[in-house]
Amino acid sequence: MLPAVAGRLSRSILRVPAFNKGHALTRVTGAGFHSGRARLMTNYHPTAQHKDEPGNSVKDAWDFSEENYKRVDMILHRYPTNYKAAGIIPLLDLAQRQNGGWLPVAAMDKVASIVGVVPMRVYEVATFYTMFNREKVGKYFIQLCGTTPCMVNGAEEIRATIEKHLGIKEGETSKDGLFTLREVECLGSCANAPMVQLNDDYYECLTPASTIELLEACKKGNPPKMGRWGSLPMNGQVSCEGPHGKTTLKEPAPAPGFMMRKDLDGNVDPATVKRDMHY
Ligand code: FES
Repeated sequence: MLPAVAGRLSRSILRVPAFNKGHALTRVTGAGFHSGRARLMTNYHPTAQHKDEPGNSVKDAWDFSEENYKRVDMILHRYPTNYKAAGIIPLLDLAQRQNGGWLPVAAMDKVASIVGVVPMRVYEVATFYTMFNREKVGKYFIQLCGTTPCMVNGAEEIRATIEKHLGIKEGETSKDGLFTLREVECLGSCANAPMVQLNDDYYECLTPASTIELLEACKKGNPPKMGRWGSLPMNGQVSCEGPHGKTTLKEPAPAPGFMMRKDLDGNVDPATVKRDMHY
C-alpha cells in the first residue's frame, strides 16, 4: 500500500465519535485509553443530550398536519395494534420531513404518545440512528461519506472543497441557512466513490469541480435531477458502469421460476416443504 494512502487509512480508522462539538477525545484502542496519543477529532457528532432552547423545548407543542395524520394511520395499520411501537422509525421520519429536516423534542414526544410508549423509548431510537437530526439543518443537508472507499477516492478533497466553498466546517450550517455539512459512514454507494447524499439524493463520482457545480446549482434552487437509476454520477456515467460501459448482465432477466424444479410447477405444499428441503 502506498505510504500516503496508508497514512490516510490509519487517520480514518482512528476516528471515534466526539460527543461534544470541538472537544478533544482520548483515543480508544484494544489496549484501552491512550490519552498521551489523543488526536483532536474533527468529525462532528451531535450531543446525545437534549438541552431546552428556544424552538426546541419539552414545553413546546408539536403535532402532525392533518394530511400527515392520514399517513400516520397508514403506517400504524401495518403493525398489530399491540406492536404500535414498531412504527417509531417511520413516524419519526415523517415528523422530520414535516419539520424541515430535523426533529424537535416535542415531535419525539408526540410520536411517543401516538405509539403509546414512554418518551425515552423514542429518544433512544432518535439518538441511535444518524438519519435523525435533533438540531436544525440547512435546506440542503449534505452527508459526505468519509469511509474507506470514498476516502481513498478523494472524499477528503471533496470535504475540503465544500468547506472552502461554503465557508463552513463539518457539522456547521452556512449563514444563509442553505447548507449543513456532516460527515457520515458508508452510504452504500462505494462503487461510485466519492459521493454525497444531499437530502434524499445521491450525487456520486465527485470531483472538486463537479462538487462546486452541485453547490452552485443548489444555491440557485435547482439541484441536478437524479439519473435513470435513482442517483446521479456527476461524471456522466450511467449507474455504476465503469469507463467501458455495461459489460455484464446484458441479457434480459430470466422469467420467474427460472431453474425451479419442474415437478413443483410453481406449487409448494407447506406440509412437505421441510421434507423437500431435507430438514
Ligand atoms: S464508502 Fe462511501 S459509499 Fe461506501
